[in-house]
Amino acid sequence: MSDPSSKTSSRLPGFYRLTVEERRQALRINRDLTEDDLACLDSGGISTRGADHVVENVVGVYALPLGLGLNFMVNGADYLVPMAVEEPSVIAAASNAARMVRDGGGFVAEADDPIMTAQVELVGVSDPDRARDRIHRASAELLQLAHGALPRLAARGGGAREVEVRAMPGRVIVHIHVDCRDAMGANMVNTVAEALADRLASLAGGRSGLRILTNLADRRCVRVKARIPRRTLATADADGGQVRDGIVAASRFAEDDPYRAATHNKGIMNGVDAVVMATGNDWRGVEAGAHAFAATGGRYRPLAVWTTEGEDLIGRLEMPMAVGTVGGTLQVHAGARLAQKILGVTSSGTLGMIIGSVGMASNLAALRALATDGIQRGHMAMHHRATASARRPEEPLSVTVPAPVLGSRP
Ligand code: MEV
Repeated sequence: MSDPSSKTSSRLPGFYRLTVEERRQALRINRDLTEDDLACLDSGGISTRGADHVVENVVGVYALPLGLGLNFMVNGADYLVPMAVEEPSVIAAASNAARMVRDGGGFVAEADDPIMTAQVELVGVSDPDRARDRIHRASAELLQLAHGALPRLAARGGGAREVEVRAMPGRVIVHIHVDCRDAMGANMVNTVAEALADRLASLAGGRSGLRILTNLADRRCVRVKARIPRRTLATADADGGQVRDGIVAASRFAEDDPYRAATHNKGIMNGVDAVVMATGNDWRGVEAGAHAFAATGGRYRPLAVWTTEGEDLIGRLEMPMAVGTVGGTLQVHAGARLAQKILGVTSSGTLGMIIGSVGMASNLAALRALATDGIQRGHMAMHHRATASARRPEEPLSVTVPAPVLGSRP
C-alpha cells in the first residue's frame, strides 16, 4: 500500500496484500478509529449473551466475513464501505468497478425523502367510493392521530405526511405515508397502522383487517448514475469499446428476459445486501422491496440499466432503499455500530445512496466479466482460496486472482 496513513481517501492501493492486522491499522488511521472501536472485529460484533436478548432459543452466534469495499466516491465524497458477505470475489469485484466509476467522476446519486408506508386493510365496506371520500375529508384528523402515536418522530422533523386510499374488489386499502427520518421505520409505521385502524374502519363503515407496513417502499427510492470512460473498460484481450457494447447488450438481455433480469438483479443485491447486513439493516425488507419494485410494471425488470453516451458507458440504477442509521440493531450489535462509524454517515438517505452505488458497482463488475471472458476463472480462483483455507487454516495463502471479475486487484 503506497500511503496507509492517507486519511479519508477510499483509494487504498495494495490493501489486499496487507495482513489482516495491517489492514485494521490502515482502517483505524484512515477513519480515525480507536483500538476499542475495532475490538469487536474478532467476535463478529455480538456475544452469545447479547444474542440471547435479541432473538429466541439462542444457542450461539453465527459470523460472516467483513471486508472493505474500496474506491467508492459518491457525490464527490469518499467512503470505505463495510461489506458482510460469504461469497468470494464480491468485495474485490465491487472495489474494482468502483475504481472504474471513479475514473468517470464517481457515482452521482440522489435519495427520496425517507418515506415508509403503513397499510390498513378495510373489509366489509359496502360503498367504497363513499369510504374513500370520507377518509380523504378526514385526512387532517388522521395525520394528527398518527403524530400523536409517534410524538418523538414529529420532534425530529418526521411524521405522517399523507393519507392515500385505494379501493379494490373486496377491500379498501388505506396507505399512510410516514417520513421516518434516519430510521428504517418499520416499527413506526406499524404503530401508525394500528393507531389509525379503528377510526379508518368507522369512517369506511367496515372492519379493519391487516395493519402493517408495505416493504414495497417505492416512495423511498435511491437513484444512482455512473459514467465510465471507454478506455477504462478495456481488458487485456478486449478494447474498451467492445467491452462497453458487450455490457450494453447484456443490459438489453436483462430488459428483454425476466430470467436474465433475476440474475442481473442478484448481482446487484450481492453488493446491496453486503452493506445492508454490515450496517445492521433489515436485508429481507430491502430484498422484498427490490424485487417487488422490479416487477411493478407487470413484468420483472432489471434494477440497473446500461447505455452509451458518446464513447462512455452510462449506468442508471433505481430501487427502494429502506435503511436506517439509527435503531434497535445498533444498540445490540457492536459490528453494526463499527460499520456505521467506518462509513461515517448519519443520514439514512446518504447510507441508501452509498448502498445503491455498491449495488451498481457489483452489477458493472459482473457484466464486464460476463461480456468478456465469463466469471468462472476469477470466481473459481477465489473459491479455491476459500476452500483451501478451510482445509488448512494454519497455512498462509498465496493465490493469483486472474481477470476478468477482479480485473487488476483493487
Ligand atoms: C453471481 O453471484 C452474480 C452474477 O450471476 C450476476 C450476473 O450474472 O449478472 C455473476
